[in-house]
Amino acid sequence: MQGGYGLIPDAAMVVDEAIRWIGPATDLPAAYRDLPAHALQGRLVTPALIDCHTHIVFGGTRAAEFELRLQGASYEEIARAGGGILSTVTATRAASLDELVAQALPRLDAILAQGAGTVEVKSGYGLTIEDELKLLRGARRLGTLRPVSIITTHLAAHAIPPEYKGRADAYIDEVAIPSLTAAHAEGLVDAVDAFCEGIAFTPSQVDRLFRHARALGLPVKLHAEQLSDLGGAALAARHNALSADHLEYLSPAGIAAMAQAGTVAVILPGAFYTLRETQAPPITALRAAGVPMAVATDCNPGSSPMTSLPLAMNMACTLFRLTPEEALMGTTAHAARALGLSDRGTLGIGQRADLAVWDAAHPAELSYRIGAEALHTRIIGGRFDA
Ligand code: NIG
Ligand code: FE
Repeated sequence: MQGGYGLIPDAAMVVDEAIRWIGPATDLPAAYRDLPAHALQGRLVTPALIDCHTHIVFGGTRAAEFELRLQGASYEEIARAGGGILSTVTATRAASLDELVAQALPRLDAILAQGAGTVEVKSGYGLTIEDELKLLRGARRLGTLRPVSIITTHLAAHAIPPEYKGRADAYIDEVAIPSLTAAHAEGLVDAVDAFCEGIAFTPSQVDRLFRHARALGLPVKLHAEQLSDLGGAALAARHNALSADHLEYLSPAGIAAMAQAGTVAVILPGAFYTLRETQAPPITALRAAGVPMAVATDCNPGSSPMTSLPLAMNMACTLFRLTPEEALMGTTAHAARALGLSDRGTLGIGQRADLAVWDAAHPAELSYRIGAEALHTRIIGGRFDA
């Protein structure tokens, strides 16, 4: 098996809410030897995984759309006919905040059960000011119900709702921007995202929203180049975006712009797989350009009903030829960077003690197994999961 990973055999770690010491057990300083100890019996310890792209708060299900796609309808055809994201919007608008939280919790629990300690959650299925606020409040509430850090992303520019059909500019001005202002005033927004695509928003509409986000001091990220190349990644990079996500149709110019801006490429193999996309993101060129790559579930009801980061890692390796080490960096250090977080994602002194303990001997096993339940336990802020 390949080396790397910074793996320390027979390691010891001293933690409170943060990591205070880490190294070979034989080097443990005497001052720490009398602390209460937990023997992990040679198990693999990694940073708790970070799911840096999800849409887990939504109403309803899209299983019927899955059946339509199996009969030959495409994702875009379903969206243009008013299904797709808009059918989730209808169900989401009809649900109360409590109902949305209750429906999201099992999805969150599934993601945590596969080793995550930080989960990003986007809005984007409300598409009115009040319904976008409801989704972001629901996301924040999830963070009080489980040992997890929830990072919220405002995504009102996700789809054009029926009442704004043909009036996307008016939607940006009357809903997306005002909902961002209101949500930010309530402390509900950690970053701002949009869907730049033929079935969603144009680069100039996204640009207008991003200017507003940056005037509020908020970082941006973008669903870019998922179904076609509109130059979204380069637009995001011009706004110093934390990440550009999906990227199947990313151009060399987009790669160069991302490399220069330090924008993370978030790779979402669950959506690629579900939509039976055939064009893979340009992994070799991203690697050559030194663009950091993250990997996420994109958990959402339409294009990626997936709740396992290790499965996303497996798909990233098998479908896109990431190495298992890149896949692990993609759900730890690079995922942290895609969220603008510098206090997690590695096992360095002073980092949060957010850890995943695996029934595995080598980190490559996390990407190698398919759909396995390899997690032994999580330790979040230095506390073991009950
Ligand atoms: O990341 N691309 C746009 N948004 C989601 C899909 C949302 C949906 O289909 O409900 C995505 O793939
Ligand atoms: Fe997404």
